[in-house]
Amino acid sequence: AGDYDLVVVANRLPVDRVEEADGTTSWRRSPGGLVTALEPVMQREDGAWIGWAGTHGEPPEPFDAVGVRCVPVGLSADEVEDYYEGFSNGTLWPLYHDVIVAPTYHRRWWEAYVRVNERFAQAAAEQAAEGATVWVQDYQLQLVPRMLRRRRPDLRIGFFNHIPFPPFEIFAQLPWRGAILDGLLGADLVGFQRPADASNFLRACRRAIALPARQSLVRLPDEGGRQVRAASFPISIDAAALDEMARREDIQERAREIRRDLGDPQYVLLGVDRLDYTKGILHRLKAFEELLSDGRIQVGEAALVQVATPSRERVEQYVQLRQDVEVTVGRINGTYAEIGKTPVQYLHHSYGREEMAALFLAADVMLVTSLRDGMNLVAKEYVASRYDERGALVLSEFTGAADELGQAIMVNPHDIDGLKDAVVRALHMSPREAARRMRAMRRRVREHDVQRWAATFLEALERPGAENTEID
Ligand code: G6P
Repeated sequence: AGDYDLVVVANRLPVDRVEEADGTTSWRRSPGGLVTALEPVMQREDGAWIGWAGTHGEPPEPFDAVGVRCVPVGLSADEVEDYYEGFSNGTLWPLYHDVIVAPTYHRRWWEAYVRVNERFAQAAAEQAAEGATVWVQDYQLQLVPRMLRRRRPDLRIGFFNHIPFPPFEIFAQLPWRGAILDGLLGADLVGFQRPADASNFLRACRRAIALPARQSLVRLPDEGGRQVRAASFPISIDAAALDEMARREDIQERAREIRRDLGDPQYVLLGVDRLDYTKGILHRLKAFEELLSDGRIQVGEAALVQVATPSRERVEQYVQLRQDVEVTVGRINGTYAEIGKTPVQYLHHSYGREEMAALFLAADVMLVTSLRDGMNLVAKEYVASRYDERGALVLSEFTGAADELGQAIMVNPHDIDGLKDAVVRALHMSPREAARRMRAMRRRVREHDVQRWAATFLEALERPGAENTEID
């Protein structure tokens, strides 16, 4: 056994490698919210974080960064292709997001997924102290709980799925569905974003591997009746930090500057997404294009800023999406732009936290139009930034966030007419109504922040099965 009482296992480390000008490398905290959520508990509990450093070949030696012991796992170039780009993002990602694009099933990808999951499990087994808690994250590592339990039955093992868990009718396509469920059932607690994801999982256990599952428990007769709990723990953001940043004078000045640089339009609309086909970026552009062509929005009156962070750029469907988005933006601007008035500002870069806060403050309307999304933290970030209680959120009902942010203007992004009406409604909402909605959403996000998310999950994992009375 190793030294660490709390071990997080995630595909990525909480830090990114940066090449300094003098040729040396250093590590910088990743933008993701998971690091923020876990940093305090990791420091308190003597934590280690196992993850991929994002590089090919031999992994760097373990090191300390952001107050955490970081233990890199190495992936070969072939494994990046087969495990990360292939099985994780060519098979599981589209399958779990309602087959928006067709998943590809390759036995070679699956074999790499098994092999790489073994490597993560082995690393966790080496780092975890006797009786430690291990928290495995997301769809890239669904086999790790079982592999880890085989090596270390003394551990308490939690798993959290950050993306949706699909209905059985879709999940059933997966040739390795039984192995995936068995992998997850190595955990004591399996967490999901929404109650619907947890019940899809429980139903899959009943249908695919005929296990007694009811309410929130799966019972494993072959393991002496051991029980696995499945429940929802909606993830969140560091709301206080964002609120504080948005109140800074320099951020507010930057927000004003952004509006000036856009030509001082009456309305600024904003989309912020990884460039991913689950986000409904094309649907959003289509709605905006039609509003311009119908004359319901005038050129120069409104500007749409679309930040599309580069993502998974070697996966085929992402290459295709980028082309489609860029052609569409080009067509809209070509058709409607005038000198000094560009309807769509398309930014294929990633931005730091401060620029993002300024963009949120500059936006009258935030557009979140995902076709399927586990949670969508951008929606929560927008709300947390609007300390001024201004701005309107248009939110897809197919996001986890829609369960919590009921005061948003809800849309079905497939319904282009409905989406157009929602945008117009958001643009013309009275300040009073906007403030009332924003206040309610801000309260929710403030009270259910990411620190609370992590604490709630870990508490449920430590709790000595009060639910054990619910057995079949
Ligand atoms: C989603 C997933 C994460 C993933 C992130 C970025 O949020 O749930 O597990 O890390 O996207 O994707 P990437 O493939 O760059 O890690």
